[in-house]
Amino acid sequence: MSENVLKGSNKQHNLNNYEETYQNFSWDEAKQNFTWNETGKVNIAYEAVDRHAENPYKKDQVALQYVSPDRKESLTFDQLKKQSNQFANVLKDQGIEKGDRVFLFMPRSPEFYASFLGVLKVGAIAGPLFEAFMEQAVQDRLEDSEAVMLITTPELLSRVPEDQLPDLKKVVLVGDSSDIPDGYIDYHQEMAKASESFDLEWVDLEDGMVIHYTSGSTGKPKGVYHVHNAMIQHYQTGKWVLDLQEDDVYWCTADPGWVTGTSYGIFAPWLNGVTNVVVGGRFSPEAWYGTLDDYQISVWYSAPTAFRKLMSSGKEIVDDFKLDSVRHILSVGEPLNPEVIHWGKKAFNLRIHDTWWMTETGAQLICNYPTMDIRPGSMGKPIPGVTAAIVDDQGEELPPNQMGNLAIKAGWPSQMRAIWKRPEKFESYFLNGWYVSGDSAYKDEDGYFWFQGRLDDVINTSGERVGPFEVESKLIEHEAVAEAGVIGKPDPERGEIIKAFVALNDGYEESEDLLEDIRQFVKKGFAAHAAPREIQVTDAIPKTRSGKIMRRLLKSRELGLPEGDTSTLEE
Ligand code: PRX
Repeated sequence: MSENVLKGSNKQHNLNNYEETYQNFSWDEAKQNFTWNETGKVNIAYEAVDRHAENPYKKDQVALQYVSPDRKESLTFDQLKKQSNQFANVLKDQGIEKGDRVFLFMPRSPEFYASFLGVLKVGAIAGPLFEAFMEQAVQDRLEDSEAVMLITTPELLSRVPEDQLPDLKKVVLVGDSSDIPDGYIDYHQEMAKASESFDLEWVDLEDGMVIHYTSGSTGKPKGVYHVHNAMIQHYQTGKWVLDLQEDDVYWCTADPGWVTGTSYGIFAPWLNGVTNVVVGGRFSPEAWYGTLDDYQISVWYSAPTAFRKLMSSGKEIVDDFKLDSVRHILSVGEPLNPEVIHWGKKAFNLRIHDTWWMTETGAQLICNYPTMDIRPGSMGKPIPGVTAAIVDDQGEELPPNQMGNLAIKAGWPSQMRAIWKRPEKFESYFLNGWYVSGDSAYKDEDGYFWFQGRLDDVINTSGERVGPFEVESKLIEHEAVAEAGVIGKPDPERGEIIKAFVALNDGYEESEDLLEDIRQFVKKGFAAHAAPREIQVTDAIPKTRSGKIMRRLLKSRELGLPEGDTSTLEE
C-alpha cells in the first residue's frame, strides 16, 4: 500500500506531497473554499455549521455527538444550526451587539456548543472559561474583558463574584428552571420561545471572534484576541494535519476553555464537515478506550499526558477494546516523548503525530503529517504557508542545530490580533518581523524542529499552561504566607508539576495540616489544576534587587543544578 493511501480505504491523504505543496501553496488558494470570497463579509459560524445545514446531502449528518456518563445526545448540522439560531435570537432580545464580550463558563454540553455558535452569529466575541476555574480566575477574566454577559450553570454561579463585576449586566443559567433564581435568564425557557431562524450578522474577516485567556510569567492572564479570519487556517490545517475526510468521526479531547478545544474541538472539524465527538465527565482509561470503540473514532487529537496515562494503565485493558477504527492520531501541548510514540505503535499500530502551536498562534504551525517521515521527538515541519526559524535575541536567524528562540514569520492567517487592552504586551511578542514564541528549539539540517523548553517561567502541567505569578499571588493571600515563589518541577507523567516555595509569617509553624490548608486555599480560590502539588517552606524567597522573584534560581536549587548568574540577587 502506498504511503499516500488512507488506512482501511483507497482514499488519498489530503496532503500528498509536503515538500511540493510547501513550495507552491499560498493562503489565497485556501480562501477559495469559502463563500465569503465574493461578498467579503463572513461569519465563521455560518461556514462551520449553516453551510452544511443548507446542503441537502449534509444537513442530516451528525455534527455533534455528545457523550458523558449520564447523557448521550447527537445533533445534526441542521439541528445545530437551528439551536444556535435560537440562542442568537435570545442574545439579540437581551440586547447583545456585535463586538460585545459574552463569556461561557460551564462544563462541556450540547448547550455549550449551541450557545457558543449563537454568540458568534450575533457578531459578539466569545470567551470560553475552563470549568475548573474558581472565583479569582473567573473574576480576573471577566473584569479584564469587560464582559457584559455570562452563560453559566446554577452550580457554577457561586464562583462568579457579580458584585465585583460592574460591566456584567446579564447572566444566563443553563439548568433546571427550579434552580434558577429571580433576576437570571433561564436558558431553556428562552430557547423554547425563540425562533429557529436568524439573520446572522455578517462581519469583516478582521472582526473579533474569540478571546482566550492565557498565562505568561508575569502579571495577570492575557486576553488573546482572535478574529474570524482564523478560519482559513482552521480549515486548512484540519484538512492537511488532521487529514479530515467527509466521513471521519473525529474526537478532540481538549476542553473548549483552552484554545485546542475551540480551534480543533469546534472550528477545524466543522469547517471540514465531519462528525465531532465531545466527551464530558472525567478521564478514565476505560471511558477513553470505550469512546474510541463505541463511536468508531477515526481521527483522534489528544495530549501527551493523556497518552502517558493510558500507557501506564497497561496492555491488558487495550485488549478489551476494538480500536481498529482509529486511522490517525495527533498530539499537542507538551513534548511528545519517543516512548509514547512507541506505545502508540504497539496499542494502535499507528504513529502519533506531534503538532506545535500556542494560544497566541490560533492554529497549528509546526506539524507532522501522515505522508511525512516522523523523527520521534521532533515537532515536525512548518505547515505550507508558514515560515519558521530559530532566531537569536536580536531576531537574526541561526544556522541548523543551534538552539535559540523558536520564531514564526509574522502574518499567518490565525495569528492573534491583539492582547486585550494591552498593546505594549502584544508588541513585545514581535522582533524583526518574527513572532517570538518563548519556546527554545533547534532545527536540524533537514528542516525538522526539535522542542527544548520554555525560555520564560511559564509552567506546563499536564499540557495546561499556568503562570507562576497568578499562583504566587493567590498563595500570599493565605494568612500564613509571607512570600511565595512557584516553579515547574519535572514529572514523568504530567510533564511538570507545580512546586511552591513559601516563607511563613511570624507566628506560623510548618505542619502537614498547614501545607494542606495552603494547597486547598489555592485550589478553592483559583483553580484545581494550578494548586501546587508540592509546597516547601523556606526562610526567604530569592529576589533580585528590584524585587523580582528569581524562579530560575529556585529551580536550579531544586534540580541540583549550578546556580548560574546570581549577581542581581538581593543580599
Ligand atoms: O511550550 C509550548 C507548549 O505549550 C505552549 C503553548 O501553550 P498553550 O498556549 O496553552 O497552547 C497549548 C496548545 C496549543 C508552547 O509555547 N507546547 C505546545 N505544543 C507543544 C508544546 N511543547 C512541546 N511540543 C509540542 N508539540
